[in-house]
Amino acid sequence: MLKLENIAKDFGGLRVLNGVSFEISEGQIFGLIGPNGAGKTTVFNIISGLLKPSSGRIIFNKSDITNQPPHVVTEQGISRTFQNIRVFEDMSLLENILVGMHRLFSYSSVSMFFDLPKKKKEEKQLREKAMDILSIVHLTEKADLKAGGLSYGEQRKLELARALATEPKLLLIDEPAAGMNPAETEELMNEIKLINKNGYTICLIEHDMKVIMGICGYVAVMNFGEIIAEGSPEEIRKEKLVIEAYLGKDEKSA
Ligand SMILES: Nc1ncnc2c1ncn2[C@@H]1O[C@H](COP(=O)(O)OP(=O)(O)OP(=O)(O)O)[C@@H](O)[C@H]1O
Ligand SMILES: [Mg+2]
Repeated sequence: MLKLENIAKDFGGLRVLNGVSFEISEGQIFGLIGPNGAGKTTVFNIISGLLKPSSGRIIFNKSDITNQPPHVVTEQGISRTFQNIRVFEDMSLLENILVGMHRLFSYSSVSMFFDLPKKKKEEKQLREKAMDILSIVHLTEKADLKAGGLSYGEQRKLELARALATEPKLLLIDEPAAGMNPAETEELMNEIKLINKNGYTICLIEHDMKVIMGICGYVAVMNFGEIIAEGSPEEIRKEKLVIEAYLGKDEKSA
């Protein structure tokens, strides 16, 4: 479904991605892990069109999306969440989802004035759809509350729900469990599995290894801008390079 071919990224003189290649198959929950600063979020920024790669190619469903701007990448069917929460705090949860759905509106500004019944009907359908999306992350009861009043964990879930609003084929999730307590994390894992069962392919960046081991079918490990290992969670867990990347060589031999 998604193929990264030899992606490099330089910031000034600093190479932060070096020959990154991997493939995500349709239906997968693909984990992207690695220590702080390894380059994981930069990979998401490049896939989603926020950054241009210095070299390399990105192929999505057989079309070349390298260097496409973010809105085109979204139209192609890729959606993402951000490591730093970006919900609209003064809007209700429902409105946050509706904003994300804007590209699904079919009526023009003309029909808004001349075809009010049609508009009303569409608005009702959109609201129902937004409520369905909120139900996936168990937030329907708070639909009319302001997003700013949610707990940190709930705001992360709202971000996830909003990313679903554009009806993506591939969903990129950047550290969804950050700041969540164990109960919230457990619920999040079930929600991500449910989203995946509903037909979405998922690429997940996460530091919580319990989440990665619990829901990912395949994992790629990054360190210093390179993929250093990939395979099933069980295979990854045993990899010497991975253990070293996480614990540090010195600590391990000490
Ligand atoms: N816009 C930028 N300009 C310059 N350097 C950047 C920029 N964005 C990221 N970097 C650098 O690129 C490297 C990779 O950063 P990135 O955010 O991709 O890491 P990460 O794996 O997501 O880390 P974390 O787990 O802490 O989120 C870091 O050294 C970072 O400082
Ligand atoms: Mg990051």
